[in-house]
Amino acid sequence: MPKRDEAEVANATTEPHLHVVADYAALSHLAADIVTRVVNENPGGAITLPTGETPRGMYEELARRIERGDLDFSSIHFFCMDEYLGKGIDDKASLAAWLDDVFLTPANLHGANIHFVPSEDKNPAQAAAAYDARIAELGGLKLAVLGLGRNGHIAFNEPGSAIDSRTRVVDLTDESRDQNASYYEEGEIIPDQAITIGVGTILDSDLIVLIVSGANKSAILKAVLEGPISEEVPGSFLQTVGDRLIVIADIAAAAELS
Ligand code: PGA
Repeated sequence: MPKRDEAEVANATTEPHLHVVADYAALSHLAADIVTRVVNENPGGAITLPTGETPRGMYEELARRIERGDLDFSSIHFFCMDEYLGKGIDDKASLAAWLDDVFLTPANLHGANIHFVPSEDKNPAQAAAAYDARIAELGGLKLAVLGLGRNGHIAFNEPGSAIDSRTRVVDLTDESRDQNASYYEEGEIIPDQAITIGVGTILDSDLIVLIVSGANKSAILKAVLEGPISEEVPGSFLQTVGDRLIVIADIAAAAELS
């Protein structure tokens, strides 16, 4: 498994591509363009895309392209990025149900190429490792699109996640559970564990696209791109991949970048 250390970071001669766009619509369009290109160029390849509010517009655009016949997702292996432990597509508050609603059903995309996180497996640790191994068997990720948590998490890799962590069961921080509380009914218990694709799994991807929108993400985006590389801010590990990283931020999210 490739390991990244300070020497590699110091040797990284390439810089990430930063696109500061006017607004959320432009962000969604550009992200959809990159997904489209990677899907077209990599039949049979594996990609992972996020859930959350930030990618909603990207999915709507992708679904429109698929519906129009301008984009064919049928040969791509789409790996879901993370999921609450014990929750599956039949649970309204699961990430799989969100994805189904926003993308899979509108794009008519059910089938063997859609890989759901094995969050209901009776041996989740083993199933998570097998999920990671399946990605590797397919040649690794061609693309990982990421949202950014207010605490700097990428996927559900919370502060404290190691740079070489693989897909695994993780404990969720109260902050992340609060951030996602709106997806749950009043009084419903938000799970305190999840399975997430690992930091190392993400960093191995041929291309990584970080999408960030809104003023409430400006401070954490600055920490991710310009702060120290540290487990305290898992997104900061993206500084180690050089020009395999594309950051798409709207003006509000990019406001604090130097
Ligand atoms: P958001 O979530 O897109 O809903 O802000 C991002 C994340 O927590 O990864």
